[in-house]
Amino acid sequence: MLLLLIILQFFAPIFGKPLIPSNYAKLQLYQSPDLMYYIQNLELGSPPQSISNIILDTGSSDLVVTNETYNSLKSHAYSNTLESYPEKFGSTDLFYVNKVEDTFGGSLWKIKEFTFALANRTDLDSFSGILGVGYMANEAMKANQYENLPVKLKSSKITKRAMFSINGQSSNPSIVFGGVYSRIFKSPLTKMPFTRQVGNFSTLAYNNLLSLTVNSIEVGGTVVSNQKLMYEIDSGANGFATTIPVLNNILVALGNDFQVIQDNVYYPIEKLKEVYITVDVQGFVIKFPIMDIVGDRQVVQGIEYGGLNLAPVMIGTNSYHGTLPNCILQYYYTVYDLEENFFLIGEYAGKDDSHVGIVSNNYDVATVSAPKAAETYSVLYQDYLETTLTPSTESAENSQTPSEIATDTSSSIYISGSSSTAISTVSPSTISANPSSTSSPCRRKIRSHP
Ligand SMILES: *[C@@H]1O[C@H](CO)[C@@H](O)[C@H](O)[C@H]1NC(C)=O
Ligand SMILES: *[C@@H]1O[C@H](CO)[C@@H](O)[C@H](O)[C@H]1NC(C)=O
Ligand SMILES: *[C@@H]1O[C@H](CO)[C@@H](O)[C@H](O)[C@H]1NC(C)=O
Repeated sequence: MLLLLIILQFFAPIFGKPLIPSNYAKLQLYQSPDLMYYIQNLELGSPPQSISNIILDTGSSDLVVTNETYNSLKSHAYSNTLESYPEKFGSTDLFYVNKVEDTFGGSLWKIKEFTFALANRTDLDSFSGILGVGYMANEAMKANQYENLPVKLKSSKITKRAMFSINGQSSNPSIVFGGVYSRIFKSPLTKMPFTRQVGNFSTLAYNNLLSLTVNSIEVGGTVVSNQKLMYEIDSGANGFATTIPVLNNILVALGNDFQVIQDNVYYPIEKLKEVYITVDVQGFVIKFPIMDIVGDRQVVQGIEYGGLNLAPVMIGTNSYHGTLPNCILQYYYTVYDLEENFFLIGEYAGKDDSHVGIVSNNYDVATVSAPKAAETYSVLYQDYLETTLTPSTESAENSQTPSEIATDTSSSIYISGSSSTAISTVSPSTISANPSSTSSPCRRKIRSHP
């Protein structure tokens, strides 16, 4: 036995792979200028082909790669199920994916017969692919559920539990499957359940989204929502998707000093810099600067203005949840447990992600329950029950009344993988029927399953 170990260690440097399992899989993340988290240097196929520019997406559950990224003909481990599924990401047209299998890996781990979606397109809004890490129940290739990355890592004995955690800090971000970064957060972490989807007539009997119960939302100290709703923290979304009454309240809360440029609403950057959004998640308050969801910028008469990455959802009609922006991951360490369906969150204490605590049956971290962990979202959100802010009439800075503001839904934000959500199909007329609303002209990637 001892001899064998010595031989293994001797060969280890030659193969460049640890032969003793580490029980976790870590992937370095990178951030694009518009705050999307992506992964470089994954490998698909045998012999391995390097794939890069892959968005990390907690809001979806499949690995989707474009047909230019990887050439199945060059892999002898490739197999095609011949199952085909329609797929759509906001600004893209409808396209088809094939459900295929091949060897998949990172620098220190490899999975055989990994199922993924090979897209019949050459790019996905300038990215080469999307790595969905959500629940299997949210897979786009639904017909036959399959083990997606968090689950397959466990069944391949690379990790001991279907869970992961994200260090989203802007310097040196990363994701670890099967472990927590023991030194990175202020102990204890706050614990709350993932919320089950409430439909019109019933609540799902299982979890399909990594979504949380939000009790209330404030913008610059003004309450813009006081009705419970479930929201995803979507690592694949650099914008905030919420209901139309809340969008209207946000605009009212930001005041009358705005410009309308090509049907989109812009606010002075200097004013936005002072504004924070706070989200009460079962009593745990998440806070982020509104500047993090500024998309397009325009200069008008020497003053710089910013448009906000906002998108509407109509609960019960085109979605059952809202989406919180991925910038939150920069400020809070987050842990996602897909086996016991809970979420851990805490502020960062530092940048040291060098020590990974393996998670198997237990977590070796201190946790406290969220103050209102028992009060989960359970009754379908209703627009008419939402709080309504009334625009102040004192300021004459803007001659335009909010109702004249049309909304350009061809403009865009990134919101990936919102299961059955078809945010992109919201028609401008529906929105302008309301007092006011906006979205901003930056890139959009909203997935819907047609
Ligand atoms: C791929 O898309 C092209 C058009 O862009 C189409 O002609 C072709 O039939 C598609 N192939 C599959 C397998 O869907
Ligand atoms: C990739 O997809 C594009 C767009 O549908 C298609 O025109 C092209 O033929 C495909 N390439 C391969 C290698 O399948
Ligand atoms: C579900 O409820 C919403 C909001 O109450 C409503 O607008 C929608 O029409 C309902 N959908 C169905 C299928 O009943």
